[in-house]
Amino acid sequence: MIELTKIQITDKPSDVSDGITLVFKGEKNLPGVSAAEFDGKKLSTLLLRCEGDRQMYVGLGDKPKVTKNILRQAAGTGVKAFLKIGAEQISIDARSFPEHIQAMVEGALRSAYKFETYLEPSAQRKNSLKQLHLLVASRDLKAAREEARVGEVLAQAENYVREIGNQPGNVVTPEALAEHAQQLARTRKLICKIRTKKELRKEGFNAILAVGGGSAHPPRFIVLEYRGGPKNEKPIVLVGKAVTFDSGGISLKPGDRMDEMKFDKMGGTTVLGILRAAADLKIKHNVVGIIVAVENLPGPEAYRPGDVIKTYNGKTIEVLNTDAEGRIILADAMAYACKHYQPRHLIDFATLTGAVVVALGSHKAGLFVTDDKLRDQLVAAGELTGQHVWPMPLGEEYREQIKSDIATVKNLGGKEGGPSTGASFIQTWVGEGISWAHIDIAGTAWSNKELSYQEKGVTAFGLRLIVEGLFRI
Ligand code: BES
Ligand code: ZN
Ligand code: ZN
Repeated sequence: MIELTKIQITDKPSDVSDGITLVFKGEKNLPGVSAAEFDGKKLSTLLLRCEGDRQMYVGLGDKPKVTKNILRQAAGTGVKAFLKIGAEQISIDARSFPEHIQAMVEGALRSAYKFETYLEPSAQRKNSLKQLHLLVASRDLKAAREEARVGEVLAQAENYVREIGNQPGNVVTPEALAEHAQQLARTRKLICKIRTKKELRKEGFNAILAVGGGSAHPPRFIVLEYRGGPKNEKPIVLVGKAVTFDSGGISLKPGDRMDEMKFDKMGGTTVLGILRAAADLKIKHNVVGIIVAVENLPGPEAYRPGDVIKTYNGKTIEVLNTDAEGRIILADAMAYACKHYQPRHLIDFATLTGAVVVALGSHKAGLFVTDDKLRDQLVAAGELTGQHVWPMPLGEEYREQIKSDIATVKNLGGKEGGPSTGASFIQTWVGEGISWAHIDIAGTAWSNKELSYQEKGVTAFGLRLIVEGLFRI
């Protein structure tokens, strides 16, 4: 459930009985404990009870190495641990960290969210984070309130992405995702245009239709526009892969962990959240979100290995494996984005390849980019937000691997360099000279284990990266 937490920034010690104190490594004279009992190791915790009050120490590690990201994690760790033992009102002593209020609010609110829509009431958490108090020095009050508001918007947008993303494929179908977009547009004054199957057919989105052919739930092509910049400024266009379930299609995946492919919609779902946060923060850029929602299933009308597809801009694809479907739907979307928007930057998010998970694990997303300045901006944004991206190569050698004898390209590049051949495939549909980045989030979009500031499941990776790291800088 998404919690409604009241946030209070105050310069007076609160009377809330559950408090978090953040502790550097080796910090001396902590009330109630000896150095041997709690040494401030990064993200370690210790709970103390004194007269009805509960104090949670959370370690920050070495003082010189403490970053915004560690404070986000530390606040999240403390709040998550407190919620597990029934807390509802929590205060954090933030007096030593006036520059990191936003990050602490993000961590705390992210920890408050848990996906439990389908649990029996008896199995659901009984408590929720009703109030969060942050104690700051009087002179920091005003700035802290503004920072907290930004943190709140970001965390709420992330929790919104997580709530939709964690839903299974039988609930969040392409139509359902389109309805979420429409609802968001209504409440945020975004412009929203949704194309159904009939319109997709009429306008030649044949790649999307091919991938969606096997499912009884027809595809949706969702465009959301937010105008916060000067009228004639070119927009930043964000494109997201939203395969609501990826069975692999005729090239069926093995059964083991196939259930996780309900998360194959996270590129597109995150784009939805980015538009929400951009609108709520009144970002001063024009931003367009394009979300391609399809389900990849085998069926009588499914596309097959060997098929050749003529895409939106006339370039053709030889299909060798129906499980490499993300790049196929993105072909139409990239061509559309370039034709209609002449983007200032074009950035796509996709859970594109298993190979990027092998290469980078769940720690960093693969970044493929044609514009050095944009690359540097995104890498710096990753450091700032804790959503790290790692530059990986594009180039002629990889394009060579996807050459087809009968079409512009084939959708399989062989065993070697999987993330790069996937990216090079998408590049085929990016107009000459456009500042483009592809972010392969296959390893970072969800987590199979609990993290410092969240429970298992969808992470909303990419939202802070773009909104905080790119839009607000
Ligand atoms: N959605 C998958 C990629 C994926 C795999 C994401 C594991 C997260 C975890 C994608 O559509 C896919 O199946 N890719 C294939 C491509 C291959 C056939 C070239 C893959 O990675 O195996
Ligand atoms: Zn696939
Ligand atoms: Zn996929």
